[in-house]
Amino acid sequence: MLSRRRFLAAGIAVAAVPLLHPRVAAAADDFRTITLKPGSARLLGPDRPATPIWGYDGSVPGPTLRVKRGEEVRVRIQNALAQPTSVHWHGIRIDNRMDGAAGLTQDPIRPGASFDYRFTAPDAGTFWYHPHFNTSEQLGRGLYGLLIVDETEPVEVDRDLALVLDDWRLDADGRVHESFGNMHDAMMAGRYGNHFTINGKYFPEITVRTNERLRLRLLNVANARVMPVRIGGHAATVVAVDGQPAEPFALERARAVLSPGTRYDLFLDATQAPGSSAEVLIDIGEREIPVARLVYEAGEPKRPAPLPAPRALPKNPLPETIDLRNAVRMEVPLEGGMMGMMGPGTMGPGMMMGPGMTGAIWRLAGRASDGHSGQPLFSVKRGRSVVLGFPNQSRFPHAIHVHGHHFRVLDARDDGWKPWWQDTVLILPERTARIAFVADNPGKWMLHCHMIEHQDSGMAAWFEVT
Ligand code: C2O
Ligand code: CU
Repeated sequence: MLSRRRFLAAGIAVAAVPLLHPRVAAAADDFRTITLKPGSARLLGPDRPATPIWGYDGSVPGPTLRVKRGEEVRVRIQNALAQPTSVHWHGIRIDNRMDGAAGLTQDPIRPGASFDYRFTAPDAGTFWYHPHFNTSEQLGRGLYGLLIVDETEPVEVDRDLALVLDDWRLDADGRVHESFGNMHDAMMAGRYGNHFTINGKYFPEITVRTNERLRLRLLNVANARVMPVRIGGHAATVVAVDGQPAEPFALERARAVLSPGTRYDLFLDATQAPGSSAEVLIDIGEREIPVARLVYEAGEPKRPAPLPAPRALPKNPLPETIDLRNAVRMEVPLEGGMMGMMGPGTMGPGMMMGPGMTGAIWRLAGRASDGHSGQPLFSVKRGRSVVLGFPNQSRFPHAIHVHGHHFRVLDARDDGWKPWWQDTVLILPERTARIAFVADNPGKWMLHCHMIEHQDSGMAAWFEVT
């Protein structure tokens, strides 16, 4: 694939140079190069030893990419790691060839090789990029970055701040624990960590001014941990979910529940007094852990009072309606794991086994899959509506992510939907989630659990839009 693209690009360039369009030749090099390579990061704090990581351009998070809605993203991914990789642009309703699902939409990018990603971002919002090959290890070692697509109209906030939340599993020396691909994580909740960072930093301080309005872009990049997040003493208004604008609403108990892969864009009015502070807290079950601090400047407030209630962000070009009556409907039970193991002989042909033989612990619709081998889960004509039911018949929560499309989450009793869009849905044990979307993006798309150790051990599938 790569060599053919390269070959074509080179052919155009050679032909064009002596002719009338010298800029065509220049365009071939108009790619921003990002190199995957080892690096180090002071995850434990500025005065503690640095942790060896893998990063885009050797840093964690990787470079934040920023374009305006409708603009083209052009990134040349250079793989300087010792293992193959690919890049998935999570949440972008992308051209299928650029989706980065290794084995399904492209070959893995081998060590020393590169791949040119080039696509238009149809929606404004908060998106991100991460590997889609040996993802548990590559994501767990720090390969992730933000892709922010700006609205074409200005948004009325004083500051725009991303908080990328990660949960690292570090050993006593502060090194990334080597326990990737182990059976225990795969059968249970996935790889949980023991050290939180925000934007690759330990307990950062965020300076704010009284009565200013922040746009906070929260993103959970953890391999598996669900993070309920709140900002102590502050109300927050949600203005977008998984990148897509929503009618602004207040969070229940001021908590944003972020499953892996999920984004929440909040408008936060800094309503405390000058000189005060507040903590950003993550709920780990038995208690809340402070992971960052808002520190109010002592000086004058930004303005005498907070801004009036925010207006909704401008709309993205999503389907106005979903034809549920003529939808393709399918039940996709989530099964397996500890206390729900599969019987022998259920492994599909061509299954890729990860390290530790964890290939077939979880099933979607009765099948354990790597998400690209074998038959599609379903195949639909472009424009058809799809309704999928996900009864969680296991003892663990799952966060099902659909590539290339955003969906509505339907009510449990009827087909009414939540007034926002998602690309990842959290399903607790013994609950059922139903989603609906218009399959309007042609190609082969993955659907998998974003608890990556579940994805890597069978909880993955693909579908086709023709
Ligand atoms: Cu964010 Cu298929 O993943
Ligand atoms: Cu899962």
